[in-house]
Amino acid sequence: MVTDRLNRPLKDLRISVTDRCNFRCGYCMPKDVFGKHYSFLNSNALLKYQDIERLVGIFTNLGVHKIRLTGGEPLLRQDLEDLIRRIAGIDGIRDIALTTNASLLTSERAASLHEAGIRRLNISLDALNPEIYARINQVPVPLQDILDGIRNALDVPYDVIKINMVVQKGVNEDDILPMCEYFRNTGAVLRFIEFMDVGNHNRWDLDKVFTAREIIDLINPVYPLEPIRANYRGEVSKRWRYVDGQGEIGVISSITQPFCTDCARARLSAKGEVFTCLFASSGYDLRPLLDGNLKDDEILERLRRLWLQREDRYSMDRMSNLDSPSDGRASQKVEMSYIGG
Ligand code: GTP
Ligand code: 5AD
Ligand code: SF4
Ligand code: SF4
Repeated sequence: MVTDRLNRPLKDLRISVTDRCNFRCGYCMPKDVFGKHYSFLNSNALLKYQDIERLVGIFTNLGVHKIRLTGGEPLLRQDLEDLIRRIAGIDGIRDIALTTNASLLTSERAASLHEAGIRRLNISLDALNPEIYARINQVPVPLQDILDGIRNALDVPYDVIKINMVVQKGVNEDDILPMCEYFRNTGAVLRFIEFMDVGNHNRWDLDKVFTAREIIDLINPVYPLEPIRANYRGEVSKRWRYVDGQGEIGVISSITQPFCTDCARARLSAKGEVFTCLFASSGYDLRPLLDGNLKDDEILERLRRLWLQREDRYSMDRMSNLDSPSDGRASQKVEMSYIGG
């Protein structure tokens, strides 16, 4: 086990398997930036599955037991099930989860991902009103495809399915209650996420954040809620249950109640850089180490040193600076679609 300068262990590795996505959500990959001329990674620049497998093995020796596959949209990567099977076969891996927009989640796909080893699925869905949904993701994918994808996943069944809704003030807060109504009593856990200032292009502004407090105050009078305790230390979502027993929801308040104190997450980009924070400006490139034929313990030693030096706590620092003018760092952040959520 290794702990960083703020005494946080490394437990969780999120792996982006592609920087591409078939959606163009304005808060993540706005169309005017991620358009026809945007240069995505060539397929030969992506880490190969055997390299990812090897790195995961090394990370387990530093304390990682939990893997989340992300993107972009991970289902766009060829033979993802092959990667999942490889990771599932690694000693020390106890949990493999996937984040997807569900547009490609046919019933066959939902079943094959599960068979390969995925046990927990997070699905992004920001509205139930088709017009608002289309306005947010900016592509002509019918909302019904996503609802079918969610249904396919519920039928498998996965151990946990979470529905992630990013709430933007003036955009989709009117869909909060319909989302509660739709997902109550389905077994899926609906989670509301405060709109974050990730990346450099999403025109984030504090005025566009519909806060965790506002979300709970909106739901509680209609569907009374009571808080429940976290599943594990460092869980990003604050959990609530419906008092009438119809399930639970979660609220992720990265803006108003940051959770850096317990952050045990590292992120691996699709081309092999490690990021120690979602808001980092640069990553530690493992590609030269892989290409230079370094031995596993030499790579492990580099990663250990990287984590020992880590002192990231971006969301907490942002919280203390919300009223002061930006210091210019904002122009250098990595894009979330590049390292996953
Ligand atoms: P696990 O239980 O760890 O697998 O994750 P989860 O299901 O609780 O969370 P998920 O990965 O779906 O995260 C939900 C959202 O929370 C992400 O899409 C981000 O918007 C936000 N989030 C996740 N991790 C972090 C983090 O380390 N820092 C910040 N600021 N936000 C995060
Ligand atoms: N704010 C909050 N969450 C975001 N995500 C992407 N961009 C943002 C943002 N600006 C998260 C959402 C989405 C997942 C893929 O990434 O949870 O569901
Ligand atoms: Fe794609 Fe998810 Fe980003 Fe939307 S939020 S553009 S679905 S990666
Ligand atoms: Fe972790 Fe950085 Fe997010 Fe804080 S802002 S919780 S340190 S990833």
